[in-house]
Amino acid sequence: MKKNHNLEPLHSIERASRDELQALQLQRMQQSLQHAYDKVPFYRDSFDAKGVHPTDLKQLSDLAKFPFTVKSNLRDNYPFGLFAESMDNITRIHASSGTTGQPTVVGYTQRDINTWADVVARSIRAAGGDHTDIVHVAYGYGLFTGGLGAHYGAERLGCAVVPMSGGNTQKQVQLLRDFGANIMMVTPSYMLNVVDEFERQGIDPRSLPLRTGIFGAEPWTEAMRLEIEERMGIDAVDIYGLSEVMGPGVAQECVETKDGPTIWEDHFYPEIIDPVTGEVLPDGQEGELVFTTLTKEGMPMIRYRTRDLTKLLPGTVRTMRRMGKITGRSDDMLIIRGVNVFPTQIEEQLLSIPSCAPHYQIDISKQGNLDLVTISVELHDGVDSSVAADVSRELEQKVKTMVGISSKVQIVEQGSLPRSEGKAKRVFDRR
Ligand code: DLL
Repeated sequence: MKKNHNLEPLHSIERASRDELQALQLQRMQQSLQHAYDKVPFYRDSFDAKGVHPTDLKQLSDLAKFPFTVKSNLRDNYPFGLFAESMDNITRIHASSGTTGQPTVVGYTQRDINTWADVVARSIRAAGGDHTDIVHVAYGYGLFTGGLGAHYGAERLGCAVVPMSGGNTQKQVQLLRDFGANIMMVTPSYMLNVVDEFERQGIDPRSLPLRTGIFGAEPWTEAMRLEIEERMGIDAVDIYGLSEVMGPGVAQECVETKDGPTIWEDHFYPEIIDPVTGEVLPDGQEGELVFTTLTKEGMPMIRYRTRDLTKLLPGTVRTMRRMGKITGRSDDMLIIRGVNVFPTQIEEQLLSIPSCAPHYQIDISKQGNLDLVTISVELHDGVDSSVAADVSRELEQKVKTMVGISSKVQIVEQGSLPRSEGKAKRVFDRR
């Protein structure tokens, strides 16, 4: 048999009632807490210090009694201290390079790898894919979870996978043309590069068989969705995930609604908390997203604080809940002269001006005691540079009224800003 169409019974759990889902979540959460407590000294110590025991979880809301896990807990237990299984049972190790040098390390058992493939397969299916599709994966392969996570999921769904990885943009374009992929999995910022390359080569990307882009690993706005959909002639949907919890495929937006990623709640239990007090907030309220893994063996995560800011929303085309599009990470929030600003807010304003290309950079420096924000932006191909002064004035004004900060906008030459091959770095805070 060439392809493996042996999926877990995805459809039944995706169609389960809330009651059925919650019953499953409770049973799995009890097991997951027990597993963490029994196998990981860090969890045993932190539960004991808070005076809670896994058997105290009688209903889902009891989870609030348990302590949070944060990124520094992973660093402090570097490299394998949070693994709940001996190396005998670990089949894969991934790591993400943090800003501080010490990578965050995660481990998976074979069952975890299977679960991961299942949730990514389910994600591709929610994006409208099936086993007849060719899937071009341009997330980076390697320690980053993007490439291999997408790859195993596409393979599990029975797709033909093109494991291209990131970079080498000309070749990306050639293979997308020659192989005729129907689905592309890539960061939205790298997709922009690929679109530019198509246009540079004089090829209309809308003439390709490419139908859908599954974009994630970094925040991106509705305005960016429209920009990419328009230029590529595809549907652009959002995939969310993080290494600590699994990798890509923790949540996936359904193509028919494009109303925020559905969280695969049978494996990942979400909470939204007030980032300052740690108190659990009701659905619909914006706060920090926290995850508890329900089935992970290799490295269970109990109440992991993602730093991602969003809200929980009721299910629409699935019974499982959705999350709003991520506004940003609390670590990415800039405080400009006392005003809280997310780079995505600036992106939204910029892309509301048709002459502006989606390539921009935000530099923050200090002038005396004052924060100085410079937004560098390129104009779209074919836009006459004589409009530069008007465009910068318009953007300064929009940022002032809609975001609430003063900034200086400079229009820079096309192609002069650094291009992303994976996760974009657009903010340079030099204060
Ligand atoms: O970025 C996993 C991934 C790969 C997700 C490919 C989607 C596609 P990390 O490198 O550990 O894992 O980074 C996780 O990236 O906490 C968010 O801040 C951000 N992020 C991931 N997906 C999205 C998204 C992967 N769809 C961190 N929208 C997360 C906004 C996202 N931010």
